Amino acid sequence: MASVSPDPKQSGFATLKNLLPYLWPVGEWNLRARVVVAMVFLVLSKVAIVMVPIFYKDAVDALVSAEEGLLLIIPVGVILAYGLARIASLGFSEARDAIFARVGQRAIRRIILEVFRHLHRLSLRFHLERQTGGLSRVIERGTRAIELLFRISLFNLVPTTIELVLVFGILWYMLDFAIAGITLATVVVYIAYTMLVTEWRIRFRRTMNEADTSANTRAIDSLLNYETVKYFGNEEHEAQRYDERLANYEEAAVKSNVSLAALNFGQAAIISVGLTLVMLLSAAGIVEGTMTVGDFVLANTYLMQLYQPLNLFGFVYREIKQALIDIEAMFVLLAVDPEIVDAPDAVALEANGSSIRFEGVNFAYDARRPILKNVDFMVPAGKKIAVVGPSGAGKSTLSRLLFRFYDVADGAITIDGQDLRKVTQQSLRAAIGIVPQDTVLFNDTVAYNIAYGRPGATQEEVEEAARLARIHDFVSGLPDGYDTMVGERGLKLSGGEKQRVAIARTILKNPRILIFDEATSALDTHTERAIQSNLNDIATGRTTLVVAHRLSTVVDADEILVLEAGEIVERGRHNDLLKRDGVYAGMWRRQQQGSDEPEAAPAPTPA
Ligand SMILES: Nc1ncnc2c1ncn2[C@@H]1O[C@H](COP(=O)(O)OP(=O)(O)OP(=O)(O)O)[C@@H](O)[C@H]1O
Ligand SMILES: [Mg+2]
Repeated sequence: MASVSPDPKQSGFATLKNLLPYLWPVGEWNLRARVVVAMVFLVLSKVAIVMVPIFYKDAVDALVSAEEGLLLIIPVGVILAYGLARIASLGFSEARDAIFARVGQRAIRRIILEVFRHLHRLSLRFHLERQTGGLSRVIERGTRAIELLFRISLFNLVPTTIELVLVFGILWYMLDFAIAGITLATVVVYIAYTMLVTEWRIRFRRTMNEADTSANTRAIDSLLNYETVKYFGNEEHEAQRYDERLANYEEAAVKSNVSLAALNFGQAAIISVGLTLVMLLSAAGIVEGTMTVGDFVLANTYLMQLYQPLNLFGFVYREIKQALIDIEAMFVLLAVDPEIVDAPDAVALEANGSSIRFEGVNFAYDARRPILKNVDFMVPAGKKIAVVGPSGAGKSTLSRLLFRFYDVADGAITIDGQDLRKVTQQSLRAAIGIVPQDTVLFNDTVAYNIAYGRPGATQEEVEEAARLARIHDFVSGLPDGYDTMVGERGLKLSGGEKQRVAIARTILKNPRILIFDEATSALDTHTERAIQSNLNDIATGRTTLVVAHRLSTVVDADEILVLEAGEIVERGRHNDLLKRDGVYAGMWRRQQQGSDEPEAAPAPTPA
């Protein structure tokens, strides 16, 4: 499967190219106009800022040469112009940010949404192999990176370049080539040095990021297993495992900081050398009489003024490189192909009677370990088939295949004769309702979780479904009723309550095909019986696949399949299987004697 860590060799340009369409969105004239206006303001603010030292110089020259008695008229005018230029530069630059904000934020919103959609498109396998903590971190960092890239870099890199060119031209024109040249050279050396050192440092940042992600993943996994940690009293063990990752981070972070100090010192040294040279040259010019004190001030001010954004440039370049890495990681995620995709000519499933057929199905999650072996059975339209067998036999796998979370390796699964691989996933999944073995709920209200079966369902419909699932009385008895929050993953409900919420939402979905995977396993026998009759009513006329551990719940099935290690070893009606006195009869006897079935099982319906 595709790797999801960014390729370090990939250039930032590719990433920037990926970003461009979001900044210049097709057909969005409002946004495009904003980009243009922001660019114009950007140039205006730079033109204003390079005027500042010129007015400054004029003021100094006027003051130096001002003879006793000469009115302050010239300096005052120049000083006012100086102030105005500063204000204009600031105003243009702020206006530019304000105008661009909408473009940047819209781009971020679109990208995150696209990533989110894509994550839901990706296959179960991807999500089981990835850790959610790490995934959310990638998105979080990617988002922050884009924001940063827009906010400072686009408006720092480009403006600084414009300013540099303007300053070079002015210095050359007003003073001499040597001073202009040294100024330019200082900046170029500074930039080259920064880029080189940053390239070297980036691996530390990368290691830091990886360590950060992996520490975070471990912390989240540990906290998700809070109860398990307590059961086994393994807090110290968890802390140590976490600390191992934290130590990796510490190591990388220290290296990163030390190298940062080296970078900062080098940068400051380069600027200081440039500044000293420029001052020496202009001092010599004054002595020779070719320059004024104002010229000395001018050259000095320009370098100092350039130094400010440049000082940021070190940071900006680092951040841009980092941001590009983070953004790239997000785009790499976007580039992961879903394992299961609709065929190009996929059509909507036409589920009429909805008979299901597994034809010689072979399947493995991992090619080295086959799970289902030549599984062949049929659930005729409107009938109920039960699958029983030991844990790990592959029962739940059948439902995952039916939902097409995975494709079969061999053979085919069809619904009303249509191969699952030839219909759209959307239409397929709309036709099937499942009460899964482990129900996980959204951290929202009970009502929300039930209504999830059919978004938009009315409160009455929700309550009706809850009644059928025998949970209405429980919910209405809660202090907050249907508005009760169920907690993260539904952990504030008991296992049986969660199961009944899951049953209710499947009832609400009202699908043609029903799958109950140990749907009532967490319920006491009494509640189970009560629900069972409701479930039977609901299942009437629908094609139903039941996975059950408690055999008494499937005695009325039209056919019972006994699955062992991925193979159907016995099949038939309850009574036939008993007569046969094989695996099933053995399981039945054991359960009858077992303590989990204190009441006598209901008399099986005669064949
Ligand atoms: N995503 C996966 N990757 C690899 N192996 C898996 C995966 N999911 C399940 N398995 C393996 O496939 C086998 C069948 O799993 P399945 O969930 O279908 O069992 P089951 O019959 O439903 O068991 P139970 O009665 O315990 O629910 C198991 O041995 C399990 O370890
Ligand atoms: Mg299972």
